[in-house]
Amino acid sequence: MQTVRNRKTSKPGATQTETVRDVATLRAKVREWRLNGESIGLIPTMGALHEGHLALVKAAMRTCDRVVATIFVNPTQFAPSEDFESYPRDEADDIAKLNALSTDLAFMPNVDEMYADGFSTSVSVSGLTEGLCGADRPHFFGGVATVVTKLLLQSLPDRAYFGEKDYQQLQVVRRMARDLDIPVSIVGVPTIREADGLAMSSRNWYLSPDERAVAPALYKTLLEIAENIDRDGPCGKAIDAGSTALAAAGFGPIDYISVCDAETLEPLERVDRPARVLAAAYLGRTRLIDNVAAG
Ligand code: PAF
Repeated sequence: MQTVRNRKTSKPGATQTETVRDVATLRAKVREWRLNGESIGLIPTMGALHEGHLALVKAAMRTCDRVVATIFVNPTQFAPSEDFESYPRDEADDIAKLNALSTDLAFMPNVDEMYADGFSTSVSVSGLTEGLCGADRPHFFGGVATVVTKLLLQSLPDRAYFGEKDYQQLQVVRRMARDLDIPVSIVGVPTIREADGLAMSSRNWYLSPDERAVAPALYKTLLEIAENIDRDGPCGKAIDAGSTALAAAGFGPIDYISVCDAETLEPLERVDRPARVLAAAYLGRTRLIDNVAAG
């Protein structure tokens, strides 16, 4: 007899999160669930879990019978000059948070499990990855597209959940899954914010108390830009005012502030269709990104 668990009636904390570190065991678990007729949701993360990640887990729990979170600080999406070594890692805390939500499985491979000796394949999504964060971090989206493709093929979920905070990443993953016919629905989940508006991010840990006090100015500025863009009028004036406001608040350098088509991320002169205002800027040594809807 099949035992299909009803996720909606199971209590938080009722399921102990199982930790798996190799692909073969992950596949065996997923196969077992599939034979039971259960649906699977995947949440790819790099750990240092915060409420933003947990919102992805909760969204998956609402629609999937089984939920798998992956925790893997992916070296291929960091440039040599970036923070791969210092990226926050706290495995015990991550597992405790997943456990508290009754996440079924935490997949936590090491680098050798993901990139065996001689690994020489990469997934590259052109166009969408060239502007915005791709212009300043040219290595980033190739690393993300490759690791997400691997995670999707390893776990073959019905749905995979990504935060809108990394809006360009979400669009790149959507395009990649569509172009490669990976049979998965990519679900975008709205950004979770601190009470003062700062988008939750693992990199917020890097902010000094003074920087943390200034950081919400990024979201505030994006909202102001979205509001100040005249319907069918040029976006340039609102972007310039936003750039001045961010610099005055203490941000710099500003990598970009841009108003883009919400799907293709093509820069827009005028908001005549669903659009997104996106920005990346440094506060001290921390690079913050955020985005809001416009139009
Ligand atoms: O957003 C992230 O945490 C990472 O880029 C992801 C999607 C887990 C790939 O390593």
